Amino acid sequence: MNLADRVLVPLLLISTVLAFALCELITLGVVGALSGLSGLGYFAYDKYKCRYQECCTDEYIHPDLDRLEYMLTAKLYGQQIARETIINALRGHWETHNSPKALVMSFHGTPGTGKNFVVQMIARAFYKNGMESKYFHFFNGRNDFPLERKVDEYKEVLYKIISNGLQECERSMYVFDEVDKMPEGLLNMLVPFLDYNSYHKSTKTGESMYQNKAIFIFLSNTGSTQIVQHLTNMWERGNNREDTQLQDFEKLIADGAFSEKGGFYHSDTIQTSVIDHYVPFLPLEEVHVRKCLARAFTERGVNPKDDEIEEALSHLTFGPEPHNLYSMAGCKRIEQKVAAIVYRKRSETKTIK
Ligand SMILES: Nc1ncnc2c1ncn2[C@@H]1O[C@H](COP(=O)(O)OP(=O)(O)OP(=O)(O)O)[C@@H](O)[C@H]1O
Ligand SMILES: [Mg+2]
Repeated sequence: MNLADRVLVPLLLISTVLAFALCELITLGVVGALSGLSGLGYFAYDKYKCRYQECCTDEYIHPDLDRLEYMLTAKLYGQQIARETIINALRGHWETHNSPKALVMSFHGTPGTGKNFVVQMIARAFYKNGMESKYFHFFNGRNDFPLERKVDEYKEVLYKIISNGLQECERSMYVFDEVDKMPEGLLNMLVPFLDYNSYHKSTKTGESMYQNKAIFIFLSNTGSTQIVQHLTNMWERGNNREDTQLQDFEKLIADGAFSEKGGFYHSDTIQTSVIDHYVPFLPLEEVHVRKCLARAFTERGVNPKDDEIEEALSHLTFGPEPHNLYSMAGCKRIEQKVAAIVYRKRSETKTIK
């Protein structure tokens, strides 16, 4: 190899390597810029889209628990245990950064004591779109799952709805009304969604840490007999309802629900202790029903006279024997009764004129 070769060959090699490196850098730069742009584009698209339709963002999901507490205090009569339990449970769940488990509450009580009423308030407090939010899922045991023989089919459908829903938004809420009318065994398929870390992995953030922000609420009349019995016993001993506390009812309700026919009957959901709070809705006394009546009149722009309240009250039955302390339908159908009375009075005044 002569001198020219000794100099030229390494030079050629070095320049080829440099050219390759330069090409690589340019390619990386172009790809980087493009992906940066597409990321930016996607971000902008997402932001734009969320201005016009609901997204799983803080703008649409922003629980105002102070307001919820205020609403419960002002509008829900005679349910101090339910109010405190629900508010504390929601605060605890929401303020835990990486909650390892979905919050699961089960509301129990006689008809018309406020179970659905409270669910409506919770939905409004959590979602900008309230019960209309696509992240609020409501099922009715009687209407959505009417047939015992179709339980396996229902399980599949429900599984899909819940897992898709949670993938779309981990802050989804699932409410199951009239659980006592559901086929036995259906609720068992929920256990993986309700239990510790066994299902959900944050999809939005891509974090590998498991967390579960979802909320599940069950509503039913199971356990009502036990609630009424316990409260009556207390009344007979001279105590009043303000002296009762959650601990007095939780076991009673769980045992009652587990052994009564319906969705909770011998259910894994109860046996595996995935329900965090059994919330008693106490039967309403006359004093509470009177408040419901007064409110219903006021909402219709009428300042009720005593005879109007008494007339509305006469439509309600109180039980159980012998003390007849509680309204059998709570505050249910009161609005309809009041509406009829107000309408009649108005038409009477018109005819007199
Ligand atoms: N504790 C309460 N305080 C004030 N209003 C109440 C209360 N309970 C019920 N109401 C009124 O009665 C209506 C019916 O109550 P709601 O539908 O919540 O009963 P429920 O407990 O779900 O009964 P059910 O077991 O029959 O489904 C409510 O919309 C509300 O206006
Ligand atoms: Mg109800």
